[in-house]
Amino acid sequence: MRYQGREVDIEGRVRLVMESALTARDRVGVQDFVLLENHNSEAAFIENLRRRFRENLIYTYIGSVLVSVNPYKELGIYSKQQMERYRGVSFYEISPHIYALSDNTYRAMRTERKDQCILISGESGAGKTEASKKILLYYAVTCPTNDRMASLRDCLLQSNPVLEAFGNAKTFRNDNSSRFGKYMDIQFDFRGAPVGGHILNYLLEKSRVVHQNQGERNFHIFYQLLDGADNDLLLSLDLERNPQKYQYLVKGNCPRLSSVSDKNNWKAVMTALSVIGFTEEEVQSLLNIIAGVLHLGNAQFGEGEEGETYITTEPQINNLAKLLAVDGCALGEALTHKKLTAKGEEMVSALSFEQAVSSRDTLAKAMYSRTFTWLVEKINQSLAPKDELHRSTKSSMVIGLLDIYGFEVLHHNSFEQFCINYCNEKLQQLFIELTLKSEQEEYETEGIAWETVKYFDNKIICDLIEEKHKGIISILNEECLRPGETCDVSFLEKLEDTLGNHPHFVTHKLANGKTRRVMSREEFRLLHYAGEVNYNVNGFLDKNNDLLNRNLIEVMCQSDNQIVRQCFCREEVVDQKRPEMAATQFKNSLMKLMEILMSKEPSYVRCIKPNEAKQPGTFDEVLVRHQVKYLGLMENLRVRRAGFAYRRRFEAFLQRYKPLCPDTWPNWRGSLADGVSTLVNHLGYKPEEYKLGRSKIFICFPKTLFNTEDALEAKKPDIALALQTSWRGYRERSKYQRIRHAVIVIQSAWRGMKGRRKARRRRQAADLIRSLIKGFIYRHEEYCPENAYFLDHVRCSFLKSLRKNLPKSVLDKSWPIPPPLCIEASEHLRRLQMRNMVATYCKRVQPEWKKQMQLKVTASEIFKDQKDSYPQSVGRLFLDSRLEREQINLKVAQTLGNDKVQYGVPVIKYDRRGFKPRPRQLLLTNTFAVLVDRTKIKQRFDYAALRGISLSSLSDGMVVLHMPSEDNKQKGDAVLQCSHAIELVTKLSLMAKKVNYVNISPGSIRFAVARGKEGIIDFIRGSEVKVAKGKRGHLLVTAPQINST
Ligand SMILES: Nc1ncnc2c1ncn2[C@@H]1O[C@H](COP(=O)(O)OP(=O)(O)O)[C@@H](O)[C@H]1O
Ligand SMILES: [Mg+2]
Repeated sequence: MRYQGREVDIEGRVRLVMESALTARDRVGVQDFVLLENHNSEAAFIENLRRRFRENLIYTYIGSVLVSVNPYKELGIYSKQQMERYRGVSFYEISPHIYALSDNTYRAMRTERKDQCILISGESGAGKTEASKKILLYYAVTCPTNDRMASLRDCLLQSNPVLEAFGNAKTFRNDNSSRFGKYMDIQFDFRGAPVGGHILNYLLEKSRVVHQNQGERNFHIFYQLLDGADNDLLLSLDLERNPQKYQYLVKGNCPRLSSVSDKNNWKAVMTALSVIGFTEEEVQSLLNIIAGVLHLGNAQFGEGEEGETYITTEPQINNLAKLLAVDGCALGEALTHKKLTAKGEEMVSALSFEQAVSSRDTLAKAMYSRTFTWLVEKINQSLAPKDELHRSTKSSMVIGLLDIYGFEVLHHNSFEQFCINYCNEKLQQLFIELTLKSEQEEYETEGIAWETVKYFDNKIICDLIEEKHKGIISILNEECLRPGETCDVSFLEKLEDTLGNHPHFVTHKLANGKTRRVMSREEFRLLHYAGEVNYNVNGFLDKNNDLLNRNLIEVMCQSDNQIVRQCFCREEVVDQKRPEMAATQFKNSLMKLMEILMSKEPSYVRCIKPNEAKQPGTFDEVLVRHQVKYLGLMENLRVRRAGFAYRRRFEAFLQRYKPLCPDTWPNWRGSLADGVSTLVNHLGYKPEEYKLGRSKIFICFPKTLFNTEDALEAKKPDIALALQTSWRGYRERSKYQRIRHAVIVIQSAWRGMKGRRKARRRRQAADLIRSLIKGFIYRHEEYCPENAYFLDHVRCSFLKSLRKNLPKSVLDKSWPIPPPLCIEASEHLRRLQMRNMVATYCKRVQPEWKKQMQLKVTASEIFKDQKDSYPQSVGRLFLDSRLEREQINLKVAQTLGNDKVQYGVPVIKYDRRGFKPRPRQLLLTNTFAVLVDRTKIKQRFDYAALRGISLSSLSDGMVVLHMPSEDNKQKGDAVLQCSHAIELVTKLSLMAKKVNYVNISPGSIRFAVARGKEGIIDFIRGSEVKVAKGKRGHLLVTAPQINST
């Protein structure tokens, strides 16, 4: 994808192709000194700097070192777009920039996972602080963040205006000169997001609080407060707006600055304080101290007649006491007296006028510098990583940023300049150690053919200053501690005695005539790597001693101002041990700093000041040449040029680039050197492009490396793919293996179980069969173990089959055939079952049905096998009556009265004589029966008198009721024919209780016809029922044969 001629990669980063980045202007001069035609010529070097400076190209590389020339004007090259341009782009692909260095360092940290540091050096005003701010801003803008990190980012950025207000001042060389050293760690998490920060501060130039050189100012904050604060605030601090009113602000005679707006900066500082998280109370306490320092400066002393000192400006002291919330009297007393402990006794003695002034100034310096340290600590608290994980440095990486005061030569150089320049010597040492010296040593150990480059090693000067016993610091300390009369001059003499022969040390006495003229008697000169500096020994001892009167500390300890209370502690007074001297403290802190820097991978920014006048566009060649010289840039270039742009241990090189060659990917089995050699051959490196050392490869030109790096970048998707593929393959394979294994385990367990079960079943079956066979053999024996199972089984199976085949009804006579040994039980059961069925049947029978049954039983007793029509009648129900109630005449019913008709049936009555058939109704009551002809009862048969009932064996329906013949009332026997003869006879015989009186005659029935006369009825079989008069006056009844089925 292309955007405005730029190639934009997927992440939207603007990535410029090398050529397009080289705009016409960028081609002015060379952007890397390594590319200079004549790399030995200082003139060519400076000319390249000048040409680029003229075109506002302030950055140039020497290999990986960035040289920056202060433009003293805004260039518009620090925008967000510019940051995007440099983000993620290789160092040399694009024009030199502080952002390129920042990005490179960041990426090195991420890819190599090693802590980094950026060392910014150069003399005062060369642009170090600006450079460090640009780097910080770059990280703040380009690094990935989230909301929480955003607040950290704000704190990081806002710490600058605060520290600058309190720690920077206008000096002769720089309107915003840092008067303290600053080393800042930015902590990143594994994703490269900033998670914390930490600042170390070094030796604030506190003498500036009480004294400024002509044309210089005190620290910015004083002027910002007076200019920016509103009237109410000033009133509450008892301050006036005019800085000229304050003794501590008038020494340099420079209250205002054209380049800086104190008012605007005041606002910025106040905002920054609140962003960082200072409470209102803390800000108030802070301002009270600042105002307190101003009031303290205005405290004046008078000298009494007896030499005693007293305070002439009570209101100042009272203001101060109020602001610091301390006891005013005690403060006044402490400023004019000192407390001594001699032989365990405390003594108070008055101070001389000079001593009082000095103790006042010392207090002001102590208040200010300790407050500054407190401020840094406070900022550190808000920069501390919030996440517990990042508190330990193991889980995170760090980029350190060193912006420390640059080499400084003033008209009057004192203890502070001595310290500052000593610090610069140390940094130069580090630079030499890490670049020039180590580089050359490395070529030697690696056995690379190499022409040694000569350079000035400033170790000799470092030793001169810091060596134990013989160094300047040691001598100074000794002089401070030596009992007896000591003064700055005696210190100078001591120096002369001890260091007189040192090539880098000169004093007025030791110097030749020419030098003597430019040196005063109170000065000593050090020939620093960066130039000669004359130091005036005045004040060296005091500043090194840095002692504050004990009673002043005591007063301060009791302050109600929280910051003052934290800055001055009681232990100081109680602790008899003398604190380290200032110079020693500084030396120790520098040693620690060197350790920190040595543990990190360094990058360098070398700042150059183009002129002393802070003018844009002016290139002072002499000044620049001087800096180029002492910064060792030429040597740097020569080493670089003769050397190699890049070196890497074989294993690291091979590890990184092995995917680019099929022979080395994925693993090289042979020796490392062979591997690297195979790899570079495959990559087509020309012999002049690289050299192989003993353990490292050295690559001459950045371009070679970039091509390789580009190839790697292009290869990465393939590698990723290959890794993905093999990882996925591995994952799936192991998943498959796991599943397979599980399947096998389950299968074998299942098969085992199945097999065992089957075997068990077989065994059981065999046992069973065996016991059955045995049982069969012994089946006729008594019940014994041998046949127990068999017999049980036989019984059980019989019972089981019986259960299934039990007869369902009483009529069902089936029954399984029992085995011999169950015959008895079977019979028993059969009876039980039958009883059971009968009982069940009986329970179910209704009362009417029961009645019916009784009737049927009676019918059966009477007629079974006796009468032809019986079988037919069995299936027909006997009814309660064959006549409806209304069929019985009312009159008849009335005549019967209480004797209710239980049964009625139509009959045909044959006359006894003549056998004329007449239709009648036969009605049965409980005690008698009557024959009714419509309304008339024709004949009555008392049951008691009933002699018998006769029927034929045929199916003719003839019934003869025999009545006693001797009774005249009776009309004789009745010959009836009824279609329900069986029903009628059954009911009648039961009612009359004369069942035994029923007789069934097969051939003929005799009957009485009144008074001893007899009639006969003959029965014969015929084709149909026929009743007719027969021979001899008999009644002949013909009835057909009825199939009994
Ligand atoms: N990159 C730059 N662009 C514009 N002005 C700069 C740049 N670097 C420095 N300056 C100017 O130079 C002055 C001094 O720079 P500073 O960084 O304070 O010097 P040092 O910290 O080295 O003493 C700044 O106040 C600013 O005006
Ligand atoms: Mg600075």
